[in-house]
Amino acid sequence: MQVAIDGPASAGKSTVAKIVANKLNFIYIDTGAMYRACTLIAKENGIDYGDESKILTAIDQNPIELKSVDGAQKVFVADKDVSLAIRTPEITANVSQVSALPGVREKMVSLQRHMAGKTDVIMDGRDIGTTVLPNAEVKIFLVASAHSRAQRRLLDYAEKGIHEDLAKIEHDIEVRDYKDSHRKISPLKKAADAIELDTTNMTIEEVTAAIMAKILEKR
Ligand code: C5P
Repeated sequence: MQVAIDGPASAGKSTVAKIVANKLNFIYIDTGAMYRACTLIAKENGIDYGDESKILTAIDQNPIELKSVDGAQKVFVADKDVSLAIRTPEITANVSQVSALPGVREKMVSLQRHMAGKTDVIMDGRDIGTTVLPNAEVKIFLVASAHSRAQRRLLDYAEKGIHEDLAKIEHDIEVRDYKDSHRKISPLKKAADAIELDTTNMTIEEVTAAIMAKILEKR
């Protein structure tokens, strides 16, 4: 079974996807982490975020992998754990530019489909229901107000020891959503057959329960 969870930045996709994956024993694939890893590869190799051919070569030389370590999903680049390094404000601010490069998307989508294989999978991102897994049995589109998403991101950052201003986070989220929704290839868009859930006033438990109910209906 394939479950696709899409939506704008910080809507809670990965938090609930991980919980649902654990409950159902599905593989969880965080596709945003993969585009973040591409951005980190560009940064660490001193490559301009718009230089597609150099970024593609650097990705080939520094393979990206998602691995489960002691039950937690970790991101590796050339066998180095970069799970924290891909979450910094600098990577967050530049990932939309890198993810809009057609060759980068082609490479990541092919990797994502390969990883999904034939096992039960829950994948989150921006174009999962529309492009990566168009035949997914369950498609969820998670939305929430930009203000509530910024508040969640502020808490996430605080836990990582990163201190940012709430208004700046909210502004950055809106800029990123705009870029992700307006790029030429596979923009952030609700699939025609996706169920939209507005999580602004919902707890994580409520969102999880709503998604579990949809999955169990289709199983
Ligand atoms: O989900 P997360 O916020 O970590 O994603 C980081 C960025 O990766 C997004 O803002 C978007 O630019 C890109 N992305 C994408 N397609 C996906 C997942 C993420 O373009 N399927």
